[in-house]
Amino acid sequence: MYPIAKGLLLKGEAGMEALGRKLARALSAGDAVFLHGEMGMGKSVLARAIAREFGVEGPMPSPSFTILECYEADIPVKHFDLYRLEDRFEFYEAGLDEEMDPKSLSIVEWPEMTDYLPLRRIDVTITRGDAEDERLAEITAEGIPKENITKAGL
Ligand SMILES: Nc1ncnc2c1ncn2[C@@H]1O[C@H](COP(=O)(O)OP(=O)(O)O)[C@@H](O)[C@H]1O
Ligand SMILES: [Mg+2]
Repeated sequence: MYPIAKGLLLKGEAGMEALGRKLARALSAGDAVFLHGEMGMGKSVLARAIAREFGVEGPMPSPSFTILECYEADIPVKHFDLYRLEDRFEFYEAGLDEEMDPKSLSIVEWPEMTDYLPLRRIDVTITRGDAEDERLAEITAEGIPKENITKAGL
């Protein structure tokens, strides 16, 4: 695990979306993005921005009830929201570990609900900033080549 950014200030949805576009440039098939943070921190805003950069078009409904929404794009994008999992077993029982496959990009909200750790991933932890529309991000990576991060401008 290595650090990428700490206390990165993201102003408004536009700031969060700009981060999403950069992250997308550092990511490829088989990678996962784990989005940590309380309700309302902007995990879904960030998830959608990453997916859009991968070419996902059309509506992107929240996976809060379905747990997983899949999209066909340049590479398949899988948007997980694990909030409603009952326990750590349910993730495996539902075959969600197999859904995080090497051909897809996996974007995961509430990753704390599983102990499954993809080998290549970026973790983003979002917290509140001083102003109502400000968020702070701490970003770390595991198994992603550092040059991908640098090339993406992160
Ligand atoms: N800097 C910011 N980044 C992301 N969202 C923000 C920001 N400032 C305000 N918001 C608002 O916070 C809310 C985030 O919602 P959402 O992405 O659904 O959060 P989460 O998925 O973490 O529960 C949206 O209403 C969005 O407009
Ligand atoms: Mg959400």
